Amino acid sequence: MSDARTIFDPPPAIPPEHDLREFELANAYLIGGEVKRWTGPRIPVESVFCEPDGAGGLRRRVIGQAADLDADCARAALTAALAAWDKGRGAWPSMHLRQRAAKVREFAARMRAKRDEVVRLLMWEIGKTLVDARKEFDRTLEYIDDTLSAVEPYAAGTLRCEQGVVAQVRRAPLGVCLCMGPFNYPLNENFTTLLPALLMGNTTVVKLPKLGLLSNLPLLEDFAACFPPGVVNVLQGDGATLVTPLMESGAIDVLAFIGSSRVAGLIERQHPAPYRLHSVLGMDAKNPAVILPSADLEHAVKTVVSGALSYNGQRCTALKLIFVHRSLAERFVAQLAARVDALTPGLMWEAGVSLTPLPEPGKPASLQSLVDDALLKGARVVNARGGETCGTFYFPAVLYPVAKDALLFDLEQFGPLVPVVPFDDPEEVLQAIADSAYGQQVSVFGSQAAEVGAAVDALANQVCRINVNRQCQRGPDSLPFSGRKNSAIQTLSVTEALEVFSIPLVIAASDSERERALFERLKDSDASRTVL
Ligand code: G3H
Repeated sequence: MSDARTIFDPPPAIPPEHDLREFELANAYLIGGEVKRWTGPRIPVESVFCEPDGAGGLRRRVIGQAADLDADCARAALTAALAAWDKGRGAWPSMHLRQRAAKVREFAARMRAKRDEVVRLLMWEIGKTLVDARKEFDRTLEYIDDTLSAVEPYAAGTLRCEQGVVAQVRRAPLGVCLCMGPFNYPLNENFTTLLPALLMGNTTVVKLPKLGLLSNLPLLEDFAACFPPGVVNVLQGDGATLVTPLMESGAIDVLAFIGSSRVAGLIERQHPAPYRLHSVLGMDAKNPAVILPSADLEHAVKTVVSGALSYNGQRCTALKLIFVHRSLAERFVAQLAARVDALTPGLMWEAGVSLTPLPEPGKPASLQSLVDDALLKGARVVNARGGETCGTFYFPAVLYPVAKDALLFDLEQFGPLVPVVPFDDPEEVLQAIADSAYGQQVSVFGSQAAEVGAAVDALANQVCRINVNRQCQRGPDSLPFSGRKNSAIQTLSVTEALEVFSIPLVIAASDSERERALFERLKDSDASRTVL
């Protein structure tokens, strides 16, 4: 069994094919179709990987110098996006959907060639395992392919006749879209908003996350090569410095943001006319697992380990609070502790590794303070290795029994802590979920239909996905991914996203022989790009 405390000490040998010293493109950004390099102030990009600091301690390896862009850059990006939109009459928003799809296809082909480079950056900057980093990259390309297939029906024109009106209903772009993704899926979740926004004809400004920005940078030249100038602009730097002038301008039509509800609220409020801002938000979640008396214990334990700890629990869909019926609690907790302790910690490229170092600054200390709070309120760390720390690494801690007044009961830990709460009556749990500020997903474990059915019915209006004997997850991307309360606004499946980033346009005429003939001529000739 590898010891979590020796991950970085003594310094590990790094296979040369996975090593990264300095990512030279770290200060790149894209405005108006031009990939630029920032010569102003920089922000060191700290890897999750730690090295000896020369004084007996550890320090994070600096793998690049990111650009700390200023407000003028943000304004320049907005000007470029507005010019490309050109009040809705720009080349991109006016282009036939199939032509836009062709450009996206060209981009995807170029992106495919960047797989190894992007994967390496995901490992070094945010600590994804080689397997997960490849998965993120491949899943993103699949998402593009699926979106290209899903958009096809929108390129076909059908006439509808209702109550004396003949009409064609099309989808039109909304305008300038600001896209902001999170650090945990910096490539995939950026693309799940950027891609549909582009395809539907919007122009975009992307503000990369401060943590996890590198993986998008190798693609800047591909954006520049495939899309007209100003259609995709990519900024990096401090959120407040860059986002404030964008939002205060009132020129952002769509805010696509994945991050905390606190920041989403701050950004939305900066818009001078928030009533006309279209918000597409993926925010906080605290997905519970409910282990009912009829649950298959071994399956539940195995699924909870994976649901709570894949990518060290840093997924919005991670299981973050585990309710277990008291009749199973002692056995469940013992098996859970043993399974968690059997997980392999290590570095991202090592085979079989499932626990890796954490990218957020100060994360081990902030996790420990949540643990300390739970301990004060009566919980124990039940797994032997829980809380072993080395630099940026923190071994998952299973906490039991976690009290209702512990911070971990309500707060989204976004990391490797597994709080377990025993219950006697399912009603207590259903009430707690109904009272919670979050409403993304839940996992229910049980085998008796009456028990599972009652839980499903009680949870139906609390969350947007009920997983039965499965962990919570976003995919498959064809299923609607949404949330209630502080968890989300709007739905982001492959097809739903196309609707979210567009608005219906109705071309209507009277249902008379003369108007129908005109409609048919518009459809069959080049006289209109819009009537199909
Ligand atoms: O972090 C939130 C992601 O959307 C979760 O996606 O369930 O596929 O890991 P996932």
